[in-house]
Amino acid sequence: MLLEARGITKSFAGVRALDGVDFDVRPGEVHVLLGENGAGKSTLVKVLAGVHSPDDGRVERAPGTRLAVIHQELALVPNLSVAENLFLGRPPRRFGFVDKARMRHDAQRLLDRVGLRLDPATPVGGLGIAQQQMVEIARALDLDAQVLVLDEPTAVLTDTETDRLLEIMAELRDRGVGLVFITHHLDEIRRIADRITVLRDGRSVGVLPRGASVDRMIELMVGRAIAERYPRRRGTPGEVLFEVEGLTRAGAFQDVSFRVRAGEVVGIAGLVGAGRTEVVRAAFGVDRYDAGRVKVAGRVLPGHDVRAAMRAGLGLVPEDRKAQGLVLTSTVGDNLGLVTLRSTARAGLVDRVGQRTRAREVADALRVKTSGLGQSVRELSGGNQQKVVIGKWLLADPRVLVLDEPTRGVDVGAKVEIYELVNRMTAAGRAVVLVSSDLPEVIGMSDRIVVMAQGRVAGELPAGTTQDRVMALAVQEFPA
Ligand SMILES: Nc1ncnc2c1ncn2[C@@H]1O[C@H](COP(=O)(O)OP(=O)(O)O)[C@@H](O)[C@H]1O
Ligand SMILES: [Mg+2]
Repeated sequence: MLLEARGITKSFAGVRALDGVDFDVRPGEVHVLLGENGAGKSTLVKVLAGVHSPDDGRVERAPGTRLAVIHQELALVPNLSVAENLFLGRPPRRFGFVDKARMRHDAQRLLDRVGLRLDPATPVGGLGIAQQQMVEIARALDLDAQVLVLDEPTAVLTDTETDRLLEIMAELRDRGVGLVFITHHLDEIRRIADRITVLRDGRSVGVLPRGASVDRMIELMVGRAIAERYPRRRGTPGEVLFEVEGLTRAGAFQDVSFRVRAGEVVGIAGLVGAGRTEVVRAAFGVDRYDAGRVKVAGRVLPGHDVRAAMRAGLGLVPEDRKAQGLVLTSTVGDNLGLVTLRSTARAGLVDRVGQRTRAREVADALRVKTSGLGQSVRELSGGNQQKVVIGKWLLADPRVLVLDEPTRGVDVGAKVEIYELVNRMTAAGRAVVLVSSDLPEVIGMSDRIVVMAQGRVAGELPAGTTQDRVMALAVQEFPA
């Protein structure tokens, strides 16, 4: 045994995050830690790593065992280069000075190992989240630890990056490293897990062997069986509520057009980099576009004007929710109320009581794990922070809601709750745009799917299409 934790108990200000948890890591295994958002996974990782000391219980390590952790919250320094981040606090030295040439060379070798094509001199702040995550992974690999803990690394990775990471993990396992892996992607667990410990509400509720069925994992994790993973309820579409016509920005997207009717969910699929996020950000007015127009309920929006877009009834749950969607220093209740609520504003006054009641309803519906609306958002687990951002937009109840990767990093149970809220919106005559890299999700929850490739619309597919058909369009190449 490389690492053994017994009876770990840990509370934060009255919230019991862990309650008598046993957990161990053997050499040469991938031990998956599975549980809903807020189940206590990250807290257990922090106890194993010595970041938190437990209130009760103990952690024992074989002598000389080094542990490397990739935490859920990325810990890179944005204004330093990739190479400087990789060797932060321990740069290669020569005659007492930092050996820049060697640092560059070693950095390149590490980047190659994780399959990241990047100049080591690039500042980290300019990278996307997936690239930053791969830099963290490269850094952890260089520590050459016997125990490597990865807390939801694949939540922000593309399929290709995930494949590379799983290969690296398998190589490390074969060399005797013990890995602890946290993920909400049950298919990844099926591919790589040797053992699965399931946490629910801070307790270990079971250990499953390799090959355990997805149904069994879900049942243990949420404490109930989930009948339908994609419970889309379709209605008859009404009038066109959202129109994007010939939207173009040089170098980003060209001539993108699609329409969404009242009561419809239109999915936007495509590979990462296909321009999906760029298009929806431009349509919402966050970024500029050079040509084309955007209409909400028949009215043309002025470009590059988020307030006007919101007044017209357009909402966007952004992809990078930490940076764009939340005020971490505020409470759950305040964050839920951040978008002005037309329906609760009476005679120009905000109806605080009505607002709190509805905030409570949404927090309950999404099963946000919190000690109350007064709790600071910073203290919530990552997945629960995401639920708050989505909840805030659902509360604002816009006519057209664009969701960019709404379930990334969210557990299976909460995903279904989010889908049910989407159903409720469309049943009430709202229009929803669902940008998603999760193919089963975009196929299962959309009434039509627009597939983008290289900044253009490559084609449109009906509900119930296959993953192969989506991929065939997504990899389409356009002449330059
Ligand atoms: N620093 C903290 N302060 C207060 N509460 C916390 C803190 N860290 C975690 N919690 C609470 O502990 C519980 C477990 O959180 P966490 O371990 O992050 O869950 P998971 O990683 O499984 O999603 C949650 O209810 C969370 O709000
Ligand atoms: Mg976590």
